Parts: sequence; structure tokens; C-alpha cells
Amino acid sequence: MIKNIAVLAGDGIGPEVMKEAIKVLDVIAFKTGVTFNYTNALVGASAIDSENNPFPDSTKLICKSSDAILFGAIGDPKYDNNPKAKIRPEDGLLEMRKFLGLYANVRPVQTYNSLIDASPLKREIIENVDFVVYRELTGGIYFGEKGASDDGSVVFDTCTYTREEIERISELAFKEAYKRNKELTLVDKANVLSTSRLWREVVQDMAKNKFSDIKVNYLFVDNAAMKIITNPSEFDVILTENMFGDIITDEASVITGSLGMLPSASIGNKISLFEPIHGSYPQAAGKNIANPMAMILSAAMMLNLAFDMKKEADIIQNSVRDALDSNIVTEDISSKKSLSTSEVGDWISKRIDVLF
Ligand code: IPM
Ligand code: MG
Repeated sequence: MIKNIAVLAGDGIGPEVMKEAIKVLDVIAFKTGVTFNYTNALVGASAIDSENNPFPDSTKLICKSSDAILFGAIGDPKYDNNPKAKIRPEDGLLEMRKFLGLYANVRPVQTYNSLIDASPLKREIIENVDFVVYRELTGGIYFGEKGASDDGSVVFDTCTYTREEIERISELAFKEAYKRNKELTLVDKANVLSTSRLWREVVQDMAKNKFSDIKVNYLFVDNAAMKIITNPSEFDVILTENMFGDIITDEASVITGSLGMLPSASIGNKISLFEPIHGSYPQAAGKNIANPMAMILSAAMMLNLAFDMKKEADIIQNSVRDALDSNIVTEDISSKKSLSTSEVGDWISKRIDVLF
């Protein structure tokens, strides 16, 4: 089997954590006989620097002709504090999502026993947390009509959703609920927004006509934000629109104790992309101190979801868990005895070799 992987390391710590994910994939390739063909492509601030475009045509082509995309991170502080910047690294990410039709962002939130004391929440609240957020990724206020008055003193961003856009991600979320505890929570703001009312209508129809075995809960986003802190273990599958999903997945990611642990998948009809949630962490770039685990776990998600290699994905996950239990961690997890990015990647690679 040959799999073509587009490798978009991106900015900040992206290239360093990507290197470790490739290291791990190379072990999997060696063990299974599968060939992974990696093609590097530019994205984000590094693509602006060299091509003046955060998602250049050459990258589009490489993505389109691959079986899956591994993505590191994008973002650079030089753009964050300049609201007048004409081109931004984030534009590349949004264009990529739209261009490749990556409509469903899947973000699992899990606790690791050895990290529970690193959580900002009390042990009894965070124990047993295991849920997944399905965030719509190519609609809503991110992509609706935008505009400004001539003098720039009035601006607007529009939130738009079609029934089809809601249905296709809801379908994935319902199916995931089937595989898990048969419970789905739609997070919206149906007491205020008409788009949210359409979400409710569509999800209610689907629950009635197609997925009657699934128990569906409806929660306003402000209330959901509270419950993620006060009672996160009550959630199983959360389904939500683009902007709410952006906010609650950041919230959900920190309650587990380390942002450096969480992978994600962005699913499209033809191709899917796999990336860590943590972002470019520019302060750590080039220092070999960033946590590579979320990137490695994103590669595991790719094996499972894009290449149907669940056994191999499980071995990677178990190796990461073993690394944590053996205190083989970077400084975000243990400031006392920490290892470098590449040392953690080396250990995990060797562990995979043993577990295989
Ligand atoms: C994310 C990020 C992006 C988003 C930014 C970088 C545009 O926060 O993937 O969650 O808002 O979707
Ligand atoms: Mg975000």
C-alpha cells in the first residue's frame, strides 16, 4: 500500500513537532510495509514570506493530489497586532478549509491519568472526561458576507447556514454517537439566532427520522461553556456551528491539563486534514522544547480515519500514554524533569517498535 501525505508543517513550532510525527510514521511504515510518500508544502506566514500567499497554488495542488494532509500550525505574532495587515497567515487556513471542503472539525477531549493534577480543575471534576466535539468548519460567520461602510466606521460579518451544511456534519456526529454512548448534545444559541433555530430544526428532524436511538440534548452555548467547566464528564458527542465550536474547543482543550496533547481531524468529502490543536506557539519556536504529542496523535488519527489503520493508531496512542506514565515529557507538562521535543519523539518511536 502506498499513501501520499501532504506535509504542511507551517509556522512556529509546526516544523519541530512535524518532524517527530514523521519519525513515528516511519516506524509504522517499517513495521507494516506500507509506504508513506511525504510531500512538503508551504502554508501560513512562511508561505507569505516566500510566495506572498498563505495558501499558494503549489500547495493547493499538492493537497488535492494527496491521500491525506498533515498540518502543523500557522500564525506569527507580527500579524496579530496589526489589524491593517492585508494578508494574514490565518487567511491561508480558512481558504484551505473552504478549498478542500473540510466541513467537519473533530476534536476529541480526553484526560490522561498522569495529567489530572495538571488540570486547572479539581480531580473529581476532570476524572473520566471523554468527549468529542464536532465543529462545523466551512460555514457560519467565518465565511458569511462581510462588509464595511465607505468610511469604515460601520462593519459587518454575517452568519449564514444552509440546511445541507447542517445536515452533513450532523450526520457524522450522529454516527459517532452511535459508536459511543448514543448521546448527542447540540450547542447553539436558539433563543437569539435564527441560524441556531435552523440547526435545532434540522437536528430534531434527523433525530426523529433517522437516528431515533440517539438521545439528543440541546444546550445554549453560554450554558455549555459553564458545564464544560463544572461538569465536563456529562458530555459525549457535542455538535456545534463554526464560531461556537472554535470557542468551546479551546475551553475544552485546557481542562485536560495540557493543550499540547490534543489532536484534531478536519474531514472533507474527498480528503481530510489532521492537525494538533495547540497552534504555532511562537515563543517556543526553534528551541526544541515544544510538546510533540498532539502532532503525533494527529498522525494516529490520520492512520485511523483516513487509512483505516486502527491497530497502528492504537499502538501510537498507547505509546504516548506510556511516555506520559514514564514521565517522558516536555516542559509544558513537567517543569522539573523535562526532555526535548526530539527526545520525546525518539522515546515514543522506540516504544512503538516494542509494542508492535
Ligand atoms: C482554530 C483556530 C482558527 C479558527 C484560526 C487560526 C483562524 O483558532 O483552528 O481553532 O478560528 O478556526
Ligand atoms: Mg480556535
